[in-house]
Amino acid sequence: MFEGEALNMQRKVREDAAAYLGVAQDQIALTPNTTTGLTLVYHGLPLKPGDEVLVTTHDHIVHHESIRLSTERNGASVRKFALFDDAATASADGIVDRVRQAIRPATRVLGITWVHSSTGIRLPVRRIAQALEEANKQRPEAERVLLVVDGVHGLGAAEESVAELGCDFFCAGTHKWIFAPRGTGIVWARPSAWARLRPLVPSFSDMEVYNAWKEDRLPRGPTNANRVTPGGFTAFEPSPPASAS
Ligand SMILES: Cc1ncc(COP(=O)(O)O)c(C=O)c1O
Repeated sequence: MFEGEALNMQRKVREDAAAYLGVAQDQIALTPNTTTGLTLVYHGLPLKPGDEVLVTTHDHIVHHESIRLSTERNGASVRKFALFDDAATASADGIVDRVRQAIRPATRVLGITWVHSSTGIRLPVRRIAQALEEANKQRPEAERVLLVVDGVHGLGAAEESVAELGCDFFCAGTHKWIFAPRGTGIVWARPSAWARLRPLVPSFSDMEVYNAWKEDRLPRGPTNANRVTPGGFTAFEPSPPASAS
């Protein structure tokens, strides 16, 4: 991390990840896992009393808990809704209709899971993003409904690239279908979405943050993916035999 450009491992990982995700390398934060990524996003968003976080009943405990822990601090409310009654008969049209019906004026975020680990259902994320685009047309920028995706079981398993999904924040660990070591993961967002977040963990990855600290001033410029990448040295021991559970 503190080596010159040629030996900078974070940079190399970002470049490789960017090529696979179909996005720019400076739009990727490196995280230890999905759980941390979701935590950084939900705690980083400028939510306040009166705002609502909408999430489905099908999401993983770490997604629901990231939202609970965040909203207990910032005073926003949470509402859960089901995208289908029975996974065996769920349809893309039905799922998108449920999303349209669930959005209310106070909704600021929608949290979903790309591929559900309990049933194997893969959501039509692109179509859900399009439904939100429609809903957002009438809204000022600060009131747009943002789409947060837990993508851990889709990344490496689905054809679509992250760039094609149309979401605002994509959080995933990479030890499942990418077969990377445990303790690795990513969050992807566009620069305008990164700019909305307040970082939670000190970063080792942004020179401006370091320079500002040395000069005893605030960092200049908007939040970016590097500033949200948690700092601190981590262990990257070899993975145990591949497991996708
Ligand atoms: C859908 C889903 N989301 C999140 C997680 C947590 O992933 P991580 O260990 O990368 O935080 C899992 C783990 O099994 C999962 O199945």
